[in-house]
Amino acid sequence: MGSLNIENVKKSFGQVDVLKGIDLDVADGEFVVFVGPSGCGKSTLLRVIAGLEDATSGRVVIDGRDVSSTPPAKRGIAMVFQTYALYPHLTVKNNMGLGLKQAGTPAAEIDKRVAEASAMLSLEPYLQRRPAELSGGQRQRVAIGRAVVREPSLFLFDEPLSNLDAALRVNTRLEIAQLHRRLRATMIYVTHDQVEAMTLADRIVVLNGGRIEQIGAPMELYNSPANEFVAGFIGSPRMNFIEGARLGESVRTVGVRPEHIAVDPHNGDWKSTVIHAEHLGADTNLYLDCEKAGLITVRLFGVYNAEPGATLYATPDPAHTYRFGQDGRRI
Ligand SMILES: Nc1ncnc2c1ncn2[C@@H]1O[C@H](COP(=O)(O)OP(=O)(O)O)[C@@H](O)[C@H]1O
Ligand SMILES: [Mg+2]
Repeated sequence: MGSLNIENVKKSFGQVDVLKGIDLDVADGEFVVFVGPSGCGKSTLLRVIAGLEDATSGRVVIDGRDVSSTPPAKRGIAMVFQTYALYPHLTVKNNMGLGLKQAGTPAAEIDKRVAEASAMLSLEPYLQRRPAELSGGQRQRVAIGRAVVREPSLFLFDEPLSNLDAALRVNTRLEIAQLHRRLRATMIYVTHDQVEAMTLADRIVVLNGGRIEQIGAPMELYNSPANEFVAGFIGSPRMNFIEGARLGESVRTVGVRPEHIAVDPHNGDWKSTVIHAEHLGADTNLYLDCEKAGLITVRLFGVYNAEPGATLYATPDPAHTYRFGQDGRRI
């Protein structure tokens, strides 16, 4: 069990309104990712769910029970932070079991849970080591294991991969996805990384300035962004935005993703000059200065040789072109 309902939650620090009325229902077993730019209120919302911050108003309901004034330890949650916060003098095994020990769980039960969690997280060879004898990725797996052994109804993760290097981030991301599948537990995961959001989430909540911009499955957000903010935030490289007036349109902005623009040396809609080509191996990013549309990014599959200064014609795919009104909403 691990459903969560957030009802009109607001949070202010003094005069500063950080959460401006958040409503969200998370079903038991769902993996929900909060994503948004730095400072938009992701951690604050997670901390309100955990009970580490009190909401200024509104309710937090876990498994049908209003926990708004329940202390964190009694909410049935476990939280994993960016920094691992392991005890340096304790072994991996004792770090994982400490919370249970303090809660008075019998030793045999602790051993059983630690054994299960360490098997799940491939930590068995390291149980007798201390944190200093582990890599960053292993330490974060211990921190996750420490959460797993508590068998919470709700896991809360706050940017758990941000301190890891790129390769470890991918590995640990995969482990978290597998862990979710095995445990069928509800997970709320905060990140500013839209790739993490896209790859892990059943549903993504896009936050901006203390409000929810849109909630949806990853591909819903990619294919049907509700507004210019979501369109620009989801997808990499970022969607191109072109002032409507430049294209003779009455809308504020026309949006087209880099992967939805074709190029040809001789024919096409937008005559342009190559500014730069980035060769990523599997694909090529071209930066073009279009006479009509200004600077755009084009993403091409595979290797595409284009010299700076050369002329190319870019053609956006009309089936994947978005239009946004004066208020930023998609038309
Ligand atoms: N304890 C606090 N006192 C005052 N302001 C805070 C406090 N905690 C967070 N804030 C402010 O609230 C805003 C949102 O912070 P946070 O939730 O940490 O953002 P995020 O996790 O999305 O980067 C920021 O402007 C931050 O400075
Ligand atoms: Mg944060």
